[in-house]
Amino acid sequence: MSQSRKLRVAVVFGGRSSEHAVSCATAASVLAAIDNEKYDVIPIGITREGKWVLESADPDRLALTAHHTPEVNSEAAAVVVSNNPEQRRILTAEPHATPPELGSVDVVFPLLHGPWGEDGTIQGLFEIAGMNYVGSGVLASAVGMDKQYMKLVLSAAALPVTPYVTVLPREWEADPEASREAVEALGWPVFVKPARGGSSLGITKVADRHGLDAAVQHARSFDPKVLVEKAAVNSRELECGVLQRPDGGADASAVAEITGYGAHEFYDFAAKYLGEAGVTLDVPADLKPEVTDQVRQYSVAAFEALGCEGLARVDFFFGRDGRLVINEINTMPGFTPSSMYPRMWAESGVDYPELIDRLITLALSRPTSLR
Ligand SMILES: Nc1ncnc2c1ncn2[C@@H]1O[C@H](COP(=O)(O)OP(=O)(O)O)[C@@H](O)[C@H]1O
Ligand SMILES: [Mg+2]
Repeated sequence: MSQSRKLRVAVVFGGRSSEHAVSCATAASVLAAIDNEKYDVIPIGITREGKWVLESADPDRLALTAHHTPEVNSEAAAVVVSNNPEQRRILTAEPHATPPELGSVDVVFPLLHGPWGEDGTIQGLFEIAGMNYVGSGVLASAVGMDKQYMKLVLSAAALPVTPYVTVLPREWEADPEASREAVEALGWPVFVKPARGGSSLGITKVADRHGLDAAVQHARSFDPKVLVEKAAVNSRELECGVLQRPDGGADASAVAEITGYGAHEFYDFAAKYLGEAGVTLDVPADLKPEVTDQVRQYSVAAFEALGCEGLARVDFFFGRDGRLVINEINTMPGFTPSSMYPRMWAESGVDYPELIDRLITLALSRPTSLR
């Protein structure tokens, strides 16, 4: 790479998952904060239908509010990732020359949540293309996305998870009564979730067996594989950020707590993203030092158990009885400046532009494939 040119970062956002709008909002924040002296940004949007386009770098157009749901512009010029690892280029998909603003890419920053973004599929594409990218690789992304496999891997590493039942499509279709009985054995209330969901979409809290079928149907509309979990009652909800170091080890951030859900029964989509009154976050969480230490230690252990890279956020339930369990690990956590992950790192002394910078630097030094 010549000294004269800036590093080229392709910021990829939008996408086919139900978290399209959230991803656009994240991109708006990253585009506004990224160091333009150091990086040339190529904004790549993926439409809800999966078309890749050269998007605008205007953060305002992509912001998410209660009154505006941003969306990638499907009218923009289509682009593709070259599958030739010697090129490492983004090419126009239109029948004319590649515009000069495109070209070879030094690092890709996939700001995508959910399926086709956080689940290893797009990571596989970047591996094929020989491109360096921010965040976890194929396996850790796939395991982190699938709550069933995430729990299997965490349990194998002796990390505590909430009791659960998996409801596979064939099980629910052939013998729903067997699934109902397995759920009954967990004890009520339960949380019913799409196995590979995110942003709380498709999740229902169910008080007793009467609500179960509708909740399973709802979750199945997001993912045919469903997880039913015993509810963590009388629990506090804690989160911790993990950031890889250049030496390959990982550090844990300050711990945060979601102290109020506003008018909502749990931390659902509206509570998370629509800035509603009464949703309160506490950074750092008011905890005994030994609890904070345990959370941070479990977070790094979870990151390593899955073989994560770059960043992850690990979420916990902390019972009034002192029990700490991992709810989930997110390999591409919410990443606007007001999201938990950046706020926890800010509390630990790493501000938003620096976080972006560190992640890009890590990705640049990361070997792709087995190299
Ligand atoms: N087992 C549970 N006990 C108590 N609350 C839960 C449980 N599972 C989920 N929740 C609530 O639902 C929210 C979303 O669930 P989560 O599993 O984190 O899904 P997502 O991947 O969509 O964020 C949690 O932040 C929490 O408020
Ligand atoms: Mg969650």
